[in-house]
Amino acid sequence: VEPDQAWRDEVLELARQQDAVLLAHNYQLPEIQDIADHTGDSLALSRIAAESDAATIIFCGVHFMAETAKILSPDKRVLIPDARAGCSLADSITADELRAWKAEHPGAVVVSYVNTTAAVKAETDICCTSSNAVDVVASIPADKEVLFLPDQFLGAHVKRVTGRANLHIWAGECHVHAGINGPELAQRAADNPDADLFIHPECGCATSALYLAGEGAVPADKVKILSTGDMVTQARATKASTVLVATEIGMLHQLRKAAPGIDFRAVNDRASCRYMKMITPAALLRSLREGRDEVHVDADIAARARGAVQRMIEIGK
Ligand code: 13P
Ligand code: SF4
Repeated sequence: VEPDQAWRDEVLELARQQDAVLLAHNYQLPEIQDIADHTGDSLALSRIAAESDAATIIFCGVHFMAETAKILSPDKRVLIPDARAGCSLADSITADELRAWKAEHPGAVVVSYVNTTAAVKAETDICCTSSNAVDVVASIPADKEVLFLPDQFLGAHVKRVTGRANLHIWAGECHVHAGINGPELAQRAADNPDADLFIHPECGCATSALYLAGEGAVPADKVKILSTGDMVTQARATKASTVLVATEIGMLHQLRKAAPGIDFRAVNDRASCRYMKMITPAALLRSLREGRDEVHVDADIAARARGAVQRMIEIGK
């Protein structure tokens, strides 16, 4: 299937007939981003999914995102064009592991990144995304212990910003972002001394970036730790002519659209998420033609997870 005009016409016509809204994460293939009704980060897409009055949500992203939309809108039909699009970060903690961790810290507040399965969300007090993780943790009374999971780099970032000693962090990671490392960032920053640095907090290099800034190797005001949606907002505001981008490379498409005059360069151009790229033009068309893959969340798990996800979309509005 070529993403040509005939493809676009059929996708849009089928979506119209089915009263479907097309949502695409910022890491999707450019042609998927361009045909979507909304492109954005995890938090923005969750909010749109919750507020939409469409009968069907086609979620072009990974499985936990579609599951989150289904938890928020149990009466809507939610489709993901390929249910095999998982997430290595979501796989880094199971509900059983979380229950065991909670048993070691009775009374602790559990904050789970949205990159988790529905079963883990069902064991969670508040979910967060990279754009509101700091606000979510700051909303918890200071004397309460916090269990933050599953991403260790985002956890370290939140701990640094909130200065919270009673925040315990699970040792999970995203294989794509963990691979964007400190030495690589330091080299790229040295090669591009005038560039701004946009860094996703899931990156292995997020701590190094702040270290470089602390050492004066990079001016501190050039280092920005941002969710994917906040990168787009920041791109429109920045005065730099070059920006080094530390995240999954699908992000470059929205950034270049938002600020065509800026030279956006990937810190690691091999940082591609194979799960995100499973949503191909052919998969999207098949999804609309055949009504698959439909996302179901066990009603009991969804009911237990819903409060945590609703708190997530309320905080940081
Ligand atoms: P955000 O879009 O919320 O920044 O998340 C990034 C991510 O890794 C999603 O898989
Ligand atoms: Fe998961 Fe990482 Fe892919 Fe995001 S980039 S979906 S965190 S594996």
